[in-house]
Amino acid sequence: SMVEEIKRLEQLFTVDTQKLKAITDHFISELDKGLSKEGGSIPMNPTWCMGFPTGYETGTFLALDMGGTNLRVCEINLPEEKGEFDIIQSKYRMPEELKTGNADELWGYVADCLQQFIEYHHEGEKLDKLPLGFTFSYPATQEYIDHGVLQRWTKGFDIDGVEGKDVVPPFEAALEERGVPIKLTALINDTTGTLIASAYTDSEMKIGCIFGTGCNAAYMETCGNVGKLAHMNLDPDAEIAINCEWGAFDNEHKILPRTPYDVIIDKDSPRPGQQAFEKMIAGLYLGELFRLVLVDLHEQGHVKMFEGQDISALKKPYSLDASFLSQVEEDAFENLAQTHDLFEKELNITPKRPELELIRRLAELIGTRSARLSACGVAAICKKKGYKTAHVGADGSVFNKYPHFKVRGAQALKEILDWESGRDGKPLKEGTYPIEIMPAEDGSGVGAALIAALTLKRVQEGN
Ligand code: BG6
Ligand code: GLC
Repeated sequence: SMVEEIKRLEQLFTVDTQKLKAITDHFISELDKGLSKEGGSIPMNPTWCMGFPTGYETGTFLALDMGGTNLRVCEINLPEEKGEFDIIQSKYRMPEELKTGNADELWGYVADCLQQFIEYHHEGEKLDKLPLGFTFSYPATQEYIDHGVLQRWTKGFDIDGVEGKDVVPPFEAALEERGVPIKLTALINDTTGTLIASAYTDSEMKIGCIFGTGCNAAYMETCGNVGKLAHMNLDPDAEIAINCEWGAFDNEHKILPRTPYDVIIDKDSPRPGQQAFEKMIAGLYLGELFRLVLVDLHEQGHVKMFEGQDISALKKPYSLDASFLSQVEEDAFENLAQTHDLFEKELNITPKRPELELIRRLAELIGTRSARLSACGVAAICKKKGYKTAHVGADGSVFNKYPHFKVRGAQALKEILDWESGRDGKPLKEGTYPIEIMPAEDGSGVGAALIAALTLKRVQEGN
């Protein structure tokens, strides 16, 4: 029956407290492994962003943000006043074809956007080369801050001839070709940008997270704890931001409670075997998980979802995105009328009442699992670093827009870290948890500018 089918899905997708704790413990050991000389499957990439800003950084910088969904160009002015900034920005679409096209087209498009921005905002001015912070949100090996060898594409990108190579030379060549007056100063990750931008105005900030198309975090480590940098004889007490690339957690499938649907997502992705954690929680995959379950229930469920209906629209891979799922979870009508209409309009399917109940529960299960598993990563960094209190800056479409994501994540953190009461022994009030994940909206642009400023300062000081 439908009730039994829902029960089965609940068993598949629910992650209880015990499991969250076990995942967190394994996560800690994998973070450590990633920092060691031998390395592990979480890359733990040193970013050469050496420490937090003071709040007194100054200058004018360009920032280019190439994430999963948008391409943004910003100009940021950091004035003398502590923690202040002015920003102007333009958003460009990241054309879908580009994500699986060729490298020349990619760099050409990015350079065109920068050129347009400069022509629009600095028309007729004679410009010296403007320093640029480039937020390139993919795993990169960096030996210097203004270079980065792409380890592998993530988030569904699949462009030949970029992996394993430094992305900066072809990017600069495209700028050169167009005569765009820009000098790349720092290549950064969106998580590092989020961390630094948030720390600029909040000294409690310890971790920067992205819960969006992809999922990842960065935090500040001391060089002495980074075994794989031991050969460089850095000051062991100096700080360096680490881009965890935690999407790769548990690529060896030791602990995450994968369902058959997670297995399919991985198999059909351009990079099977990679980003095991990310594929269970990030925005790119939430709608697809939901779709795979529904198609499965239509084809072989004991309940025959949508029996007798034409489900061809539902059969198209990646046809449902996280915002579709959001809309199902947001449906406030008792009879789920909004979900009913959504299915009719988008998929040409007319769900019956019990089917609507299952659809709603399934969306909740997938959304809840995402938030709860995400919390394991945050808890792991906090436990590893011994943070009893911290602010965690978060950005990305799932964090900002997906219904209940924040509350579910906070609830999971509370379970993992056993917050029944505060350190004074009194019960904790809702919203007063010692580790708080808070919005750091649009951090990347400001973060990139700050890191560029910090880099120029370091270069001037000869470090
Ligand atoms: C943006 C940040 O707001 O969020 C980007 O500026 C980041 O740097 C992005 O990549 C992540 O969210 P999404 O949902 O676009 O992947
Ligand atoms: C993917 C990328 C990572 C990025 C994250 C969020 O995990 O590999 O670099 O930070 O998505 O955008």
